[in-house]
Amino acid sequence: MSSPAQSSPAQSRFPSDFLWGAATSSHQIEGDRSGRSGNIWDSFSRVPGAVVNGDHADVACDHLWLMERDVQIMSDLGLQAYRLSISWPRILADGTLSSRSPLGIGQYHRLFELLLAAGIEPVPTLFHWDLPQALEARGGFRNRDCAWWFADYAGLMAQEFGDVITRWATLNEPWCHAYLGHASGEHAPGMSDPQAAVAVAHHQLLGHGLALTAMRAERPETLQLGVVVNPAPVHGDAAIDPDLIRRIDGTLNRWFLDPVLLGRYPADVLDDMGPWASCVQPGDEEIIGQRLDWLGINYYNDHFFTIPETGTTGPERTPHITAPSARPTLPARPTLPARPTLPVTGIGWPITPEGFAAFLRRMVIDYGDALVPLYITENGAAYDDPMIDGRIDDTRRMEYYDAHLRALLSSIGDGVPVRGYFAWSLFDNFEWAHGFGQRFGIVHVDFDTLARTPRASAGWYHDLIATSVIPELTAS
Ligand code: FCB
Repeated sequence: MSSPAQSSPAQSRFPSDFLWGAATSSHQIEGDRSGRSGNIWDSFSRVPGAVVNGDHADVACDHLWLMERDVQIMSDLGLQAYRLSISWPRILADGTLSSRSPLGIGQYHRLFELLLAAGIEPVPTLFHWDLPQALEARGGFRNRDCAWWFADYAGLMAQEFGDVITRWATLNEPWCHAYLGHASGEHAPGMSDPQAAVAVAHHQLLGHGLALTAMRAERPETLQLGVVVNPAPVHGDAAIDPDLIRRIDGTLNRWFLDPVLLGRYPADVLDDMGPWASCVQPGDEEIIGQRLDWLGINYYNDHFFTIPETGTTGPERTPHITAPSARPTLPARPTLPARPTLPVTGIGWPITPEGFAAFLRRMVIDYGDALVPLYITENGAAYDDPMIDGRIDDTRRMEYYDAHLRALLSSIGDGVPVRGYFAWSLFDNFEWAHGFGQRFGIVHVDFDTLARTPRASAGWYHDLIATSVIPELTAS
């Protein structure tokens, strides 16, 4: 491999108060299926063909049973913070307050105690896609009431854990649950109804706003509340109408950023949505736009669009957006990447660190004084390098992190207020519709024996956290 240009420590040094962490989510690692009620990913995983290899997350990393060992691994890494998510159906069996599970609540008490004793700040997200199946039976987030069920659950979490946990995120990547779950159908609950996707996008945001109110009512002084989104630059090749790119950017990026930061949906996107936006009722935007203490950005790659050849299907993670206006609509299945020259990670996603820096700068330009402190709540790459004599040399993963962290550092130098970074992921885990085949961990997990083996990137990340300086990659 080629090593990147040598840089001086000063050029690769992060601020000393920068927060370093790693991230996971409940459904992807917890296991202990018998300790909670069902969620939409349990059901979706049983649909033939929905998940690669028919994988499901009944055991996954068995984290809830191995939490002591896992917290020790985090401690060995020197993590300052750990972003996890709480499984809603583990707390509330039917999703509502009448169905509290003392067992599930107790499991998180134990996990948080272990983390805090190790000096690691837990940063929980309340909804990372594992919606209780009982709520799906009532329409999930297609049903406006779900925003209030979510707020009830959020208030309970603030009551239960708000004395020891300060920093919370309400939602993870609401675009994915809305559009991959309800338009392209590649995520649970597997629907192909773009109008429903718009309602789910809005009702999640409404739930976010109501959750802020509910949580602050419990703990008015202490909580630092945020939401995690997945914005990215959107590009089209020469065959794509630029107005389509505006619309995709509107749906992927501005639809989520504008209401949480500015308290209003973008007018052009509302116009694009036409009658589908009737789910937005008077007063909703005000609820969504309440004070936000921080914003989480998950970034993996820029999005590229081209017109697919007839009969071909593109890879997943492509938005499937059509609106009932006369304007041009997205082809049924855009392809990605549209630039075959771009390098890709093991999962096939393009490597575009310059787009990461560009989007962060855009945040300052677009939102100015309305911008809040930012945290990179996910960033990372899937590669499956072999284990040789107990060692996994995942150089390509380290190169991915190196390039994105250098891009991040340059953005911070330009004045983008990024305060922390969470590597995705701490562990290999259930990668949604990809099953266990795509490995994002800096720690390898053997899904037969559940053995954990830190990869070379874990040592590299440890050194970064210890010194605040991006370690030089040496040629191998
Ligand atoms: C993000 C998800 C996370 C993981 C990574 C690879 O979109 O938030 O759970 O699947 O992608």
